[in-house]
Amino acid sequence: MRIDAVFQILAALVVATSASPITTTTPRHVVHERRTVPPANWKRHTRLHPESVFPMRIGLSQQNLHRAEEFINQVSHPESADYGKHWSAQKVAETFAPSADTVSAVKEWLHTSGIALDRVRMTQSRNWLTFNATAEEAERLLQTEYHLYKAESGHIHVACDDYSVPEHLTKHIDIITPTVHFDRKIGGPRRTTHHEDFLLPPPMRELNKRVLENSHGLLGSPDDQSNPKQGAQVLNALMTLENCDTMITPACLQALYNAPPGSLSMKNNTLGVVEYTPQAFLQTDLNMYFKQFEPRLDGVSPNTNLIDGASIQTKNQSFNFNGESALDLEFAMALVYPQQVTLFQVGDLVNGGSFNNFLDAIDGSYCTFMGGDSKDPSVDGQYPDSLPGGFTGAQNCGGFASTNVISTSYGSNEADLTAKYETRQCLEYMKLGLQGVSILYSSGDFGVAGNGGQCIDPVTGAYNNGTKGLFNPSFPGTCPYVTSVGATQVINGSTVRTPESASERVIFSGGGFSNVFAMPSYQQKAMATYFAEHAPQYGADRFNNSQKVRGYPDVSANGVNYVTAVNGKFSLAFGTSASTPTFASLVNMINEQRINAKKAPVGFLNPVLYANPQVLNDVTNGGNQGCGTPGFNSTAGWDPVTGLGTPNFSAMLDLFMGLP
Ligand SMILES: *[C@@H]1O[C@H](CO)[C@@H](O)[C@H](O)[C@H]1NC(C)=O
Ligand SMILES: *[C@@H]1O[C@H](CO)[C@@H](O)[C@H](O)[C@H]1NC(C)=O
Ligand SMILES: *[C@@H]1O[C@H](CO)[C@@H](O)[C@H](O)[C@H]1NC(C)=O
Ligand SMILES: *[C@@H]1O[C@H](CO)[C@@H](O)[C@H](O)[C@H]1NC(C)=O
Ligand SMILES: *[C@@H]1O[C@H](CO)[C@@H](O)[C@H](O)[C@H]1NC(C)=O
Ligand SMILES: *[C@@H]1O[C@H](CO)[C@@H](O)[C@H](O)[C@H]1NC(C)=O
Ligand SMILES: *[C@@H]1O[C@H](CO)[C@@H](O)[C@H](O)[C@H]1NC(C)=O
Ligand SMILES: *[C@@H]1O[C@H](CO)[C@@H](O)[C@H](O)[C@H]1NC(C)=O
Repeated sequence: MRIDAVFQILAALVVATSASPITTTTPRHVVHERRTVPPANWKRHTRLHPESVFPMRIGLSQQNLHRAEEFINQVSHPESADYGKHWSAQKVAETFAPSADTVSAVKEWLHTSGIALDRVRMTQSRNWLTFNATAEEAERLLQTEYHLYKAESGHIHVACDDYSVPEHLTKHIDIITPTVHFDRKIGGPRRTTHHEDFLLPPPMRELNKRVLENSHGLLGSPDDQSNPKQGAQVLNALMTLENCDTMITPACLQALYNAPPGSLSMKNNTLGVVEYTPQAFLQTDLNMYFKQFEPRLDGVSPNTNLIDGASIQTKNQSFNFNGESALDLEFAMALVYPQQVTLFQVGDLVNGGSFNNFLDAIDGSYCTFMGGDSKDPSVDGQYPDSLPGGFTGAQNCGGFASTNVISTSYGSNEADLTAKYETRQCLEYMKLGLQGVSILYSSGDFGVAGNGGQCIDPVTGAYNNGTKGLFNPSFPGTCPYVTSVGATQVINGSTVRTPESASERVIFSGGGFSNVFAMPSYQQKAMATYFAEHAPQYGADRFNNSQKVRGYPDVSANGVNYVTAVNGKFSLAFGTSASTPTFASLVNMINEQRINAKKAPVGFLNPVLYANPQVLNDVTNGGNQGCGTPGFNSTAGWDPVTGLGTPNFSAMLDLFMGLP
């Protein structure tokens, strides 16, 4: 009621102040984005002072996105005559840049709403308009109210509940920030930003600083739930193939997946592994591991690209600070040797980093003034970072070349972010695929539940303790342009010659169906078979069972009992965090052979794999319990537990070498 009243006043204000020479009536506004899920742990604090100033960014709709799937299939579908003919960055930018109509329609709106166009800048990539707005101006433009929100931790954030734009502009505007975007799980208590900080009176700034120092749940932080899980200490790390049901070594993986040790090291074909600060590797751990498992790497470090003031911190040492990096780097470096691994370390120690910060660094066309393509200060690290100890340099924008394969063992929940934010990021993965890059993400370690085992209350949308409710899919794994990797295990008492099951030890393979993304064409056949032959015994109260949405994961690999050197001792690590660099290493080795034969790297994998499921070992045992259910079953054919299955390297190699 109060809000309605305010809307009326605001609407009156719009009429009174828009001295438009062209429009005679206020264009009808429609709600553009609304938070469907009220942010957990956040409470509305005070209305933002009308004279507060903050940078508004209007993300313009890009052209030709309706053809995205057609374009990606041209270069990635095995039956396409243009398979492997990847696009240049310039062709990608030109194809998708917003149209002149879009730019002029949005500018026209700003102008007639009293925002002088000399205040408005367009980003280099041509897909954002930015200007500094007062809260009063922003509220009037978007027919909303801005409030300061406070987290239980005391952290501050600026947001509105929903926002509206003139009806005729909905097709031209993708996303506007800052508005409804809260990051509830990647962030937990949120980082603050350059932008929000200056809105706050000094005592609150101080408070924010303290909150940040104790912030948790951020990507790469010690309690990021996508970190691997630690098992028992290993006193005697064995090299034999007899113990692969209790200890996974590179030799076990090579035996399981029919893969030889690496032999080639082609130029520009290092394997990319992404880590988020403060997660870091210790060289002493790598040395300890390589002495045992790959002596030729003793003393060797990954090639390290530091993004946005990143550092490889050594102050905080524990499995939660070092386990992910140790696991990823030790196995990937050993598997692809003599090829090297390129580590992309993202974010400084204060502000941290997000998937968008990484994407900005490898793709200048995604990057923009004051934030990435869909960079939201509440979600993504903002650089330069004004906070004490923060990185004061410019944010990294296109400064690093992408590798042909990128392995990321971090993930959030789809429900943490808005659909528009996720869609925009997902389309960036599509653009990288067009350029020949394979993107692999872990599918999560909590079965059908989200990070930390949480599920979604169907009424309030809030997360619960995981004993009931809606399944909670993982992002970016549900983006149809990434390859999502689930986890398997060697069955107790079995050998590497026995088919694996879905992981049911310590972790359960993340899998299920998206609430955001439609089913891609490459999945149609597999999905039809799955629903016809193994229709899961759950209704719409658990997952979107329309059979029209993206299912994940795509593939899987062992994720149980990895013998890892962390903090000076060997212990077992568990997670799709382990599965992902393993699968990515094998893809990298296929690229070695293709490049050696003067062919392009494989790029986006899924269309080839779904059209040729015989190159994967189908996994038909085990499930992915969560939300008080046994989860889905691993079945013959694709399933939302282990995808198409684990790699049969020699079969995959033959297949990809047979493609142009
Ligand atoms: C907004 O204000 C900030 C701080 O004064 C300034 O650095 C920035 O350039 C301004 N942005 C635009 C788009 O005018
Ligand atoms: C490696 O990549 C860089 C940057 O993309 C390029 O300039 C260089 O020519 C490439 N080198 C080779 C040997 O292909
Ligand atoms: C990380 O190290 C700093 C400095 O030694 C310390 O103050 C902080 O408590 C540590 N954080 C955690 C989570 O251990
Ligand atoms: C989870 O929450 C439900 C109420 O929603 C409660 O009955 C149950 O005891 C809780 N379970 C755990 C393990 O905390
Ligand atoms: C497999 O082995 C693990 C570790 O020894 C044990 O915890 C688990 O219960 C066993 N599972 C089965 C199905 O035997
Ligand atoms: C999994 O398989 C079991 C045993 O066949 C069956 O009872 C159960 O309904 C299946 N689960 C789903 C989700 O279909
Ligand atoms: C399930 O997905 C379909 C296709 O995207 C969509 O039309 C439908 O609204 C979704 N159902 C629910 C309950 O969200
Ligand atoms: C893996 O593929 C090869 C063909 O390259 C085939 O001979 C072998 O049987 C396959 N392995 C399994 C476990 O299916």
